[in-house]
Amino acid sequence: MKKIILLGYMGCGKSTIAQNLSKVTNIPFLDLDNCIEKKANLSINEIFEQFGEIHFRKLEHEMFLELLQSSENSIIGLGGGTPCYANNHELLKREDVTSIYLKASIDTLYNRLIHNKSKRPLIANMNEEEMREFIAKHLFDRSYYYHHAQHKVSVDGKAVEETVQDILELLA
Ligand code: S3P
Repeated sequence: MKKIILLGYMGCGKSTIAQNLSKVTNIPFLDLDNCIEKKANLSINEIFEQFGEIHFRKLEHEMFLELLQSSENSIIGLGGGTPCYANNHELLKREDVTSIYLKASIDTLYNRLIHNKSKRPLIANMNEEEMREFIAKHLFDRSYYYHHAQHKVSVDGKAVEETVQDILELLA
């Protein structure tokens, strides 16, 4: 069994979809951000505040490599920026992984993130107008990296279970 990697922009539903997929398949789910927080004994916000984003990207890259090295089967949920730094996008093409980009529209992301921004340092202090503009531009910039995934699944207008079903069909 290959490692399953879920990636996509903040708010696309990586963690919820991964948890659900984990229940259905019985494959353990590892959330990259949670693993970084546990190892550093700090929240993502605290890491950004105390050490800055560049340091976070270093921890993120190291943790991604560590999770890939383990011999256990796992579903790995990346952070929204993981594929976009430190050549992490190259790792999405490895033969021992199945990487899946969870693609969401700007509207879907905006509607989810507007109520869930406090734990996300990149957008935590933005107002609604700034956020919409930021997401549109940022998603455009990041799409190049996201498209290095081996598969793409759209999440727009779908219940979590439907997306999980789409993923199961890809894995079959
Ligand atoms: C980030 C996304 C976050 C987290 C950090 C940076 C990003 O993860 O890794 O705040 O650069 O998009 P989620 O995508 O789980 O919110």
